[in-house]
Amino acid sequence: MMNSYVTGATIKQLRESRKLTQAELADKIGVSSKTVSKWETAKGLPDISLLQPLAEALGICVIELMNGEHITNKNISGNMLRCKFYVCPICGNVIHSTGAAVISCCGITLPTLEAEDADEDHRITIEKVEDEHFITIHHSMTKQHFISFAAFLTSDRLQMVKFYPEGNAETRLQLRGMGYLYYYCNRHGLFRKKI
Ligand SMILES: [Fe+2]
Repeated sequence: MMNSYVTGATIKQLRESRKLTQAELADKIGVSSKTVSKWETAKGLPDISLLQPLAEALGICVIELMNGEHITNKNISGNMLRCKFYVCPICGNVIHSTGAAVISCCGITLPTLEAEDADEDHRITIEKVEDEHFITIHHSMTKQHFISFAAFLTSDRLQMVKFYPEGNAETRLQLRGMGYLYYYCNRHGLFRKKI
């Protein structure tokens, strides 16, 4: 399964930004400049066996090439609060990244999830218990509709808890410092509450 393939426009744009001629690029991957010209004018597509050499010649990875997206994180040490979450709709894989990335799982490219403010149907309560906090997410936990994880994010730390259908969406967390509590509903997406 594949949701995108490299386009001629991407090849052209990357080639030009690397200051390579069509002949120079062709040379690096063992095709003719005419072939590169055909790709760039949408009169042909590189064979799948050429994707890896093509990506290498252009200095990016295959996933970036396929998505036409080239990511450079200048200062990734910055701040955990810029952390991004990705969830695979097919297998449920939860991925977090401290910077921009092209993330692919089960053959599809995952969008960066955008969090909404907690609503009435995804309400949470927080109760202080000694030096920890007891978090309850008031939500259905059936196999069809459930909360799959919660994460408390501060500028230097991420605590993540996985939940499972037919369990309870509740946990103890150390809520130290200012941060955001994120939680994900398999039907309604990502929610966020400032703590
Ligand atoms: Fe929901």
